[in-house]
Amino acid sequence: MKSPLDLLDSADTPALLDRPAPTAPADLTLRRGAARVLIGNWTGTSTVPSRTLYPHQWSWDSAFVAIGLRHLSVRRAQRELESLLSAQWADGRVPHIVFNPAVPHDAYFPSPDFWRSSSAGRVAGAPRVPETSGIVQPPVHALAAWLVHRADPAESRRRGFLARVRPRLAAWHDYLLTRRDLGGKGLAAVVHPWEPGMDNSPCWDEALRRVDPAPAGAFRRADLDHGHPADRPTDLDYGRYVRLAADYRDAGYDDAAAPHRFAVEDPCFNALLIVGELALADICRELGVPDPGHTARAARLTEALVDRLWDAEAGLFRVRDLHTGAPVDEKGVSGLVPLLVPHLPADVVRRLHATLTGPDFRATGTDLVPSYALTGHAFDPTRYWRGPAWFNTAWLIQRGLTTHGHHEDAARLRAGLLDQAGGSGFAEYVDPLTGEARGARDFSWTAALALDLLCDPKGATP
Ligand code: SER
Repeated sequence: MKSPLDLLDSADTPALLDRPAPTAPADLTLRRGAARVLIGNWTGTSTVPSRTLYPHQWSWDSAFVAIGLRHLSVRRAQRELESLLSAQWADGRVPHIVFNPAVPHDAYFPSPDFWRSSSAGRVAGAPRVPETSGIVQPPVHALAAWLVHRADPAESRRRGFLARVRPRLAAWHDYLLTRRDLGGKGLAAVVHPWEPGMDNSPCWDEALRRVDPAPAGAFRRADLDHGHPADRPTDLDYGRYVRLAADYRDAGYDDAAAPHRFAVEDPCFNALLIVGELALADICRELGVPDPGHTARAARLTEALVDRLWDAEAGLFRVRDLHTGAPVDEKGVSGLVPLLVPHLPADVVRRLHATLTGPDFRATGTDLVPSYALTGHAFDPTRYWRGPAWFNTAWLIQRGLTTHGHHEDAARLRAGLLDQAGGSGFAEYVDPLTGEARGARDFSWTAALALDLLCDPKGATP
């Protein structure tokens, strides 16, 4: 039988899959399983998150995928990021979906004829081709580019990888820090529940109640062709997602003109922006160009994050609703991800760690971190982002634990991630109480991040 490595095309750099050498046969099996998923989901220019549920290219998925792919083929990892960035709009936004024209429109909703980026987004700077969505996802890309570079600096330099992606990454962050500073206090706002990537977290419920849903008969959900209705958002939620996206589109995706009936500052999104700014500073250093202000911006963003979103009493970061001006009284995993930020006040780190390991999230053993507090009134162990544990947030928190010296907790979370990734068939997410697989299987970022933790065991390439 062919090994997954034999399926890589000859143009790829030699596979790095066996470095460092796996210490246990189970590790090798897991590496090969993860590689099989990533190779199976590769389209030739990028990776679909899932062959069934998500048959195009998704923005933050691609960044996580590149982080894993760097261990399999550095060239593919570079291509993954560059194909996404080639669909960037002239205003700097990186769209959350880049549509593959070969995929039939009814395979995914909302399809290109809903977003109409090349016409409705023309003034905002959408490319003529490819068609894309008009909203964004969390900015994991600069971190991903830096980690891809670090996997094989010589190959990266030879191909001029960082020099090519740096201007695009900088323009992306500029978009977020200018047009998306809707609160005027230095943080980026998100304007659709799909933008923070945690689609139907209870953190959005109150803000969504202000949105009139699009009538159920006005659209057909394709996600229910593949996902179980109990694992997916409700029809009422979908009606609201559709309304918000249609309103944005009808305003030409112009952030100054759009009604933005949903506008919140999200801790995970902004924490990733901070880490992305620090990665851009590293990239400048590597390229020998002066840092045009990324380090200073990261410091200002960190201050704004703590000032605007830290809730000392609750011991985690909150979402801030820009319509009410108030913090949202819900505890989501998004509020723990800022552990990733290196220069947090020591007291914030101490309290965050206590919340992570306390009764709300119980991250003391090898279980993954639930997406919403186990004790929360809306906790649901199976429904998309209302409780299930996801592999990308576990990876981010594992990295945060390492950053702040909690090495034993980081090692336990790493072991849990690897165990559950393999045991669940690389599931999209798992029930946080039982570990049972939920959502799609052979999910790309689950495979990619497992591969990353196998090949970069400390989980913190500097
Ligand atoms: N995650 C959304 C979906 O389920 C959109 O990005 O389609």
